[in-house]
Amino acid sequence: MKTRTYIPVRASQIRYYRRVPLFFESAPGVFQLYKPAGMGISEVRLDEGLHPRLFIEETDRDEAALEVHRGFNQDIARDIREGDVAGVKETLCRLVEETLAEPRAGTIQALPETMGILVSGYSDQPGVLRTLATISTKDYSTVIHSVNVMALTLSFCFFSRLSLPETRRLGLCALLHDVGKTEIPSEILKAPRRLTAEEFEVMKAHPAIGERIIRQVSRLDGEIVQGALEHHEKLDGSGYPRGIRRVSFAGQLIGIIDCYEALTNEERPYRRAQDPLDTLRIIKEDVERGKFSRRIFEKFCYSLV
Ligand SMILES: [Fe+2]
Ligand SMILES: [Fe+2]
Repeated sequence: MKTRTYIPVRASQIRYYRRVPLFFESAPGVFQLYKPAGMGISEVRLDEGLHPRLFIEETDRDEAALEVHRGFNQDIARDIREGDVAGVKETLCRLVEETLAEPRAGTIQALPETMGILVSGYSDQPGVLRTLATISTKDYSTVIHSVNVMALTLSFCFFSRLSLPETRRLGLCALLHDVGKTEIPSEILKAPRRLTAEEFEVMKAHPAIGERIIRQVSRLDGEIVQGALEHHEKLDGSGYPRGIRRVSFAGQLIGIIDCYEALTNEERPYRRAQDPLDTLRIIKEDVERGKFSRRIFEKFCYSLV
């Protein structure tokens, strides 16, 4: 008989499990059912931590990831209704953290629904999205960067009156644009200094890795894949990975917003965060050099006002 494999569940996620059965380890290597499929764990038990360390069966992995993400989505919908922007950001960061920890079908599948909730929740109040992007968090990471880029992108889309399906696609693209960084060694990703030329070469692989991951694990629209692949390309051919001059709209838009977000929020020991206006001036120089589209850049500036 095939031995079953069990995976520990994060304590913060236990309350989301209903459909997926949970197990506990009664003796080393011996797992017993703790709650069957179709039942939740009572709030009291959760609040008091009255449960042992819990596990899921490996075969339930994708189903479990989906269930947790649905829980996140419900939390986001509730926080939007209640006007709790900080709550929305916190849940979004947890969701993206899960996605980036292990980008696979189960974790990426619930993202379109999240984007639908955000787009319909904020379509009449784009100002809230800018607040979402500027809510500061001490721990700056790819997760927070991705959520910030998404918020700025949605705000751009609403300002530009793009259709809701297009807004959802671009929002998803923003959320996933750096998913390829999950395969870049963390010594390089978190280096507290400027990267060496060799390290930068490794880093430059992240758009193509991202493209592969998104294609492998999901059936997301081609525009989303293209945006992830092309967000570091420049219109004068000086970008990477391919050095192309014909860059998709998604690639161009995410490219500008990515730069803006990285410069305004990234606090590294060798560089402090820039003031938003100074950042726009820096990006404008790249517009003058023919790296970014003037039309998209100007629209982005207006969307920030
Ligand atoms: Fe990137
Ligand atoms: Fe980025």
